[in-house]
Amino acid sequence: MNSFTSINDKPLLDVKNLSCHFDVSKPWLNRVIEGEPQRFLTAVDQVSFSINRGETFALVGESGSGKSTIAKLIVDLIHPSSGEILFDGQSLKNTRGEAFKTLRRRIQMIFQDPFASLNPRWRVGDIIAEPIHAFGLAKSQNDVRRTVEELLDKVGLAGRDRHKYPHEFSGGQRQRIAIARALSAQPDFLVCDEPTSALDVSVQAQILNLMRDLQDEFGLTYLFISHDLSVVKHMADRIGVLYLGSMVENSPSDQLFIQPAHPYTRMLLDAIPDHEMSGRRRKQVTGEIPSPIDPPSGCTFHPRCEFADEKCKQKRPSIHEDQGSLVSCWASEEKRIPTTPKDSQ
Ligand SMILES: Nc1ncnc2c1ncn2[C@@H]1O[C@H](COP(=O)(O)OP(=O)(O)OP(=O)(O)O)[C@@H](O)[C@H]1O
Ligand SMILES: [Mg+2]
Repeated sequence: MNSFTSINDKPLLDVKNLSCHFDVSKPWLNRVIEGEPQRFLTAVDQVSFSINRGETFALVGESGSGKSTIAKLIVDLIHPSSGEILFDGQSLKNTRGEAFKTLRRRIQMIFQDPFASLNPRWRVGDIIAEPIHAFGLAKSQNDVRRTVEELLDKVGLAGRDRHKYPHEFSGGQRQRIAIARALSAQPDFLVCDEPTSALDVSVQAQILNLMRDLQDEFGLTYLFISHDLSVVKHMADRIGVLYLGSMVENSPSDQLFIQPAHPYTRMLLDAIPDHEMSGRRRKQVTGEIPSPIDPPSGCTFHPRCEFADEKCKQKRPSIHEDQGSLVSCWASEEKRIPTTPKDSQ
C-alpha cells in the first residue's frame, strides 16, 4: 500500500535551523498609546534534526517547549520564520502545484485528542475515505469501500464500523480511526503529536503496539511527540530533547537512557516514576520553564542548572558531539558534569 519503495541513504526528513517567532504584541493602537514595542515569542529556536526512512524520532520536553509548533511547521499548518524543512530532498517552502500536493499526501498527522480531530457529524467510513477522494487514490466507489474496510481491519476495528459515528467509540478506538484516516492517504511519514496522552495506560500500550506493527507493515517513518520519556523509550530510535524551543540533546534512544548528556535530560529522567525500585538516587525537578517572550541569556537552561557557570549565563552553547549524541551544553562540552545519574547511586 505504501507508494514509496525506493531506498537511499538520504534522510527522509531534514530540518535545518528551523525557527518560529510568534508576534504577541498588543493591537497597534494600544501599543502606540501606551508606547510599547512589538513583542515576539520564540517558540522554536534554530532547531535542526533529521530522520531516516523507517526510523522513529521522538521529540520530548516540558509543556511549552515547542513540540507542537515543530509538528505544525512540518505539516505546513504554519510557516517558519527562518530555516528549512526538506522532505525526501524537496524543500517544503519551494515546492508548488502537484508536487506540493504529493508532499502533503506523503506527510500525515495524528493529534492528541482523537475526538476533536474527527468530524462528529460524519460517519467513520466517510472520515476515512476523505483523503482517498481528496488525493484521487481510488478508481471507483467500490474501491473506496474496500480500502476503508481494509484499513479498519488493519487498525483492529471491524469493516461494519464504517457506518457508525465517532461518538459511538471509546477514546482508544477513536485514535484507531484517526490512524486509519491518516493511513488512507498512503503516507510515508506520520507526525504523531502526543497520540496516546489522552488515553488510559492500558489502552496507551495497545495503540503504541499498533503503531509499531503498522510501521513495520507499511515502512512508515514517525516523528513521535511526547512529554513523557517513558512512553518514547520503547518507540524511538533517536530522541531529541527540547527546552524552551531549542534542541538541547539529540541522542540514540538507548544511550539517552543510560548516559544522558544534558543536565535537562537528566532532570527529565529523574522525573520518571521508578517502577523497578532501582534505588537510584534522584534529584528533584526544580524551577519552572521561563517565559519564551523574555528568555534567560546565554544557555536558557542556566537558571535551573546546577552546573551553570558565568560562561553559561552569557554565551549560547554551541552543539558538540559526544559518543553519538549531539549536545548543546557548555558544562558537558567542558567535562564539568562529574558522573552520569546511574553512577551516582
Ligand atoms: N499561535 C500562537 N501564538 C502565540 N504563541 C504561540 C502560538 N502557538 C504556540 N505558542 C507558544 O509557543 C510556545 C510553544 O508552544 P507549543 O504548543 O509548541 O508547546 P508544546 O511543547 O507542544 O507544549 P505542550 O506539551 O503543552 O503541548 C508556547 O509558549 C506557546 O504559548
Ligand atoms: Mg503540544
